[in-house]
Amino acid sequence: MNEKITTTTFIEMKKNKKRITMLTAYDYYTAKIMDDAGIDGILVGDSLGMVMLGYENTLPVTMDIMVHHVKAVTRGVKKALVVGDMPFLSYHVSIKESVRNAGRILQEGGAHAVKLEGGREVADKIKAIIAAGIPVMGHLGSTPQSVNLLGGFKVQGKDYERAKRILEDALILQEAGVFSIVLECVPRPLAKLISEKLDIPTIGIGAGDYCDGQILVTHDMLGLFGNFTPKFVKKYADLGEEMVKAIKEYIKEVEEGKFPEEKHSFKMDEEIIERIKKEVGE
Ligand code: KIV
Repeated sequence: MNEKITTTTFIEMKKNKKRITMLTAYDYYTAKIMDDAGIDGILVGDSLGMVMLGYENTLPVTMDIMVHHVKAVTRGVKKALVVGDMPFLSYHVSIKESVRNAGRILQEGGAHAVKLEGGREVADKIKAIIAAGIPVMGHLGSTPQSVNLLGGFKVQGKDYERAKRILEDALILQEAGVFSIVLECVPRPLAKLISEKLDIPTIGIGAGDYCDGQILVTHDMLGLFGNFTPKFVKKYADLGEEMVKAIKEYIKEVEEGKFPEEKHSFKMDEEIIERIKKEVGE
């Protein structure tokens, strides 16, 4: 596929049983690498608060921070669908504020869609955002912005009540018009049932292989965030280890005078330097 990926492409991919690939990115060059590698969608997730900015959770991330990173990512992307996360409190206060904030992610950031967390309680905001022409991706299961209500980053939907509520919420979000739903940390059989019941694609993270697509936090799968690694993460590389090796080698070579070599330096006309030396009395 060479053409630009849109929200409609996501829905078509589900129909054609083609799995959707997504990763997070927060900066220009990482986004460019992913786009060139052929990723279908890039999420500028508010996880950036933890993996880029060193906060304990995603709550301190603001609209201005999100717009700043969405702009960087969209500069690097030609083909993939770019989804910008709506941060904590940006879609909770009023419908008007929610639409305006979602609009900033597209108008200033250049993203193609927004993602927001929650089920029935945010359906009115979702409808209003979509009515303004802004595609919305839902997010159910473990929703990190509610970490204080959920009592931590935990699997959601193991018991009957919670599982049923997540399924109902998925149907409500579909009805509200979202083009896709992230299912985070829900048991595999529940994710399977939800994926089968919906016409729109589910994108799983810690939700098993029956989802229509998968997403991971890039820093987790590349080994660039060691504070904790959730069970559902597969590390495809250990770039953190590689960085430590490279940085130690650099320190050693600078200390031993091995770097920089002559080939890393710039030349100048000998006469000019000799003339200056004479003038300064060397
Ligand atoms: O913020 C984020 O990166 C996310 C993913 C975990 C889906 O919401």
